Amino acid sequence: MRINKGCDASVLIDPTESNNQTEKTALPNVTLRGYEVINAIKSALEKQCPGVVSCADILALASRDAIRTVKNISWEVPLGRKDGKISLASDADTLLPSPFFNFSSLKEKFASLGLTTKDLVVLLGSHTIGQGHCFVFQSRLYNFSGRGDTDPSLSPSYAAFLKTKCTPNPNDTQSVVPLDRITPRVFDENYYVMVSQNKGLFHSDAALLTNAETKSYIYQQIKTKRSTFAQDFSASMSKMIKLGVLTGNQGEVRKTCGVVNA
Ligand code: HEM
Repeated sequence: MRINKGCDASVLIDPTESNNQTEKTALPNVTLRGYEVINAIKSALEKQCPGVVSCADILALASRDAIRTVKNISWEVPLGRKDGKISLASDADTLLPSPFFNFSSLKEKFASLGLTTKDLVVLLGSHTIGQGHCFVFQSRLYNFSGRGDTDPSLSPSYAAFLKTKCTPNPNDTQSVVPLDRITPRVFDENYYVMVSQNKGLFHSDAALLTNAETKSYIYQQIKTKRSTFAQDFSASMSKMIKLGVLTGNQGEVRKTCGVVNA
């Protein structure tokens, strides 16, 4: 039996003739970016010490260091992960939480991975940086309940702003908006400010206001001068990077992150 998929870098595997439906090709992953950064790190490492550092370790280290460049926080990354040899789009479709999830589905999905409700609200705080594609939340603006309406839980002024950036055209796969419009490039608590003002971009962001525990966390982060977000984020990331790790002979150290070794 195969263990639940986790931090095994299977998302990096390119489609091939024999498997043209890898995780990378699945709808929740089509907008993933930054593969070239991981590939560049891998090729530099392969030149210095071939076959030693897995793509899964590179991903865990690079995400820690990427955050460290925008915020002075860090966490230990235990090393020695192996890379998975299997990558199926259907896993991404069924195992990833959806931006259309309500609170109970989010909680259930995180719990199935051993992550708590606190981990959920803390890790979603990472939506303080980065961007979202209009097509992901277009229905909240133009067709919420199938009658051409706007999601009533979305701030009307923010919905009006989003409509200036996102058209109702379902074929627009390019337009993007920042996840945190206040400080899009700063790793801070403003994601929580956005959510508290009914300006969470995705249904899943807005869902954090529908539960007492996550709502209280959000208000704690934005009201007190002593926010706990930075240390909470380190703690939750430390847990997340240990999920579904392969070790020993469970996997391999790929030579190229996009290709399973021959
Ligand atoms: C409830 C779970 C989550 C859902 C439903 C979710 C959903 C999404 C969606 C739909 C996007 C926009 C993708 C796009 O349009 O290009 C996104 C972006 C992003 N997410 Fe999440 N996410 C979740 C959890 C997380 C976690 C745990 C992290 C990291 C700790 C994270 C970090 C990010 C970042 C950094 C971006 C910006 C990507 C970019 O700029 O290209 N998310 N997320």
